[in-house]
Amino acid sequence: MKSVGVAILGLGVVGGGTYKILRDHREFYRQTQGVDISVECVLEINKEKALALGIEESKISDNIAEVVSNPNVDIVVEVIGGVEPAKSFVLAALHSGKSVVTSNKELFCKYWHELEKAARRTNAGLYFEASCVGGVPIIRTLIDGMQANVVENLTGIINGTTNYILTRMTRAGLGYEEALKEAQALGYAEANPSADVDGYDAAYKLSILSSLAFHTKVPLDKVYREGIRAVKAQDIAYGDGLGYVLKLLAIGKNTPQGIEVRVHPAFIRKDHPLASVSDSFNAVFLKGDSVGDIMLYGRGAGDLPTGSAIVSDVIYAATHGDVKYATFKNGAQAEPGVKFITDFRSRYYIRFTAKDKAGVLAKVAGIFGKYNISIVDLLQKGEGGGDDIPVILVTHETNEYSVRRALAKIGELDDVVSVDSVIRVEG
Ligand code: HSE
Repeated sequence: MKSVGVAILGLGVVGGGTYKILRDHREFYRQTQGVDISVECVLEINKEKALALGIEESKISDNIAEVVSNPNVDIVVEVIGGVEPAKSFVLAALHSGKSVVTSNKELFCKYWHELEKAARRTNAGLYFEASCVGGVPIIRTLIDGMQANVVENLTGIINGTTNYILTRMTRAGLGYEEALKEAQALGYAEANPSADVDGYDAAYKLSILSSLAFHTKVPLDKVYREGIRAVKAQDIAYGDGLGYVLKLLAIGKNTPQGIEVRVHPAFIRKDHPLASVSDSFNAVFLKGDSVGDIMLYGRGAGDLPTGSAIVSDVIYAATHGDVKYATFKNGAQAEPGVKFITDFRSRYYIRFTAKDKAGVLAKVAGIFGKYNISIVDLLQKGEGGGDDIPVILVTHETNEYSVRRALAKIGELDDVVSVDSVIRVEG
């Protein structure tokens, strides 16, 4: 039976989960996959952490050169996260001809082209299933399941932390700060929650997934990004009354006019397939020209779910001699001639505060009319007592830039106190 040795770089949450899966399933993989996979080495400065997992002292190292020159190591699993030192370690492994499996979305999204170049030089494998949507096998689905299709649409809830926060704001009426604290107490959100709540994590994943789905490089700087810090519980409640649920969506569209990639909070109808994806769960909806609609659902984070994706790559690398790289020219920038749409089309939920007096709505409607924006729903929450009142409206599908221009004009009206919220309505 073929024997394959693995090194794990970093024994954090995902590294620990990966180790446990490999340790506990060794005999199962011998029987089902016909390969004997052993963990030959771990790179971990905190020796106690490794010993607590039952790893022999002789297999614990704090020196990357020692790991990548170990002749018993065929596959290096990088689960350190962040750019450095992960990047140098991955490059050292690839230069030594070892295949690499990584869960590192930031590293992969920003330096995929450099890593792939190094891998091609030594014909090493480069696998990254765990970089996007944790345990959900989205990358293998795109590479090995959807290759017959021109993928037209990839829309997902691909960040569990923000989905948990928005679910709590929706179901318990919590404010953003309160829901964030809960997410931090449960270990979903970091002490500095920026990567999740500002949409970076979802943008890294969307850059990788849309590059694969659309067979062209979609660099991070082409992804429009808005996080959830400004989301107000009252808009979630007003949206509920209109039949919507608020989600942080990652949207990738491949159209004849160009590619559109964006991450932002969006209302979707309650009967949309993504509306019931709650708590820290993730889901990705795909549309292929032959297969039609597909949806994958599962855990996007956690030790065993992400470890499951890592180990699936380890098994793939251990049992496949042929190495597949990107199907497109993988450079730092987008390929020349590929167009990216920034003036995207959507419907819009808009809330503003206005003086409660005659003629205000007519002026607002006049401005929307001037920008060719048609209103489909209008709610005015005043009591007729002369106080400032919230006005909520939903537009028909229109262009982003027209909405921004119209709102700038509406904000200048004397009778409009403030434009409070603008949320895209999708699906
Ligand atoms: N922090 C991410 C999430 C998981 O909340 O989905 C790792 O990408």
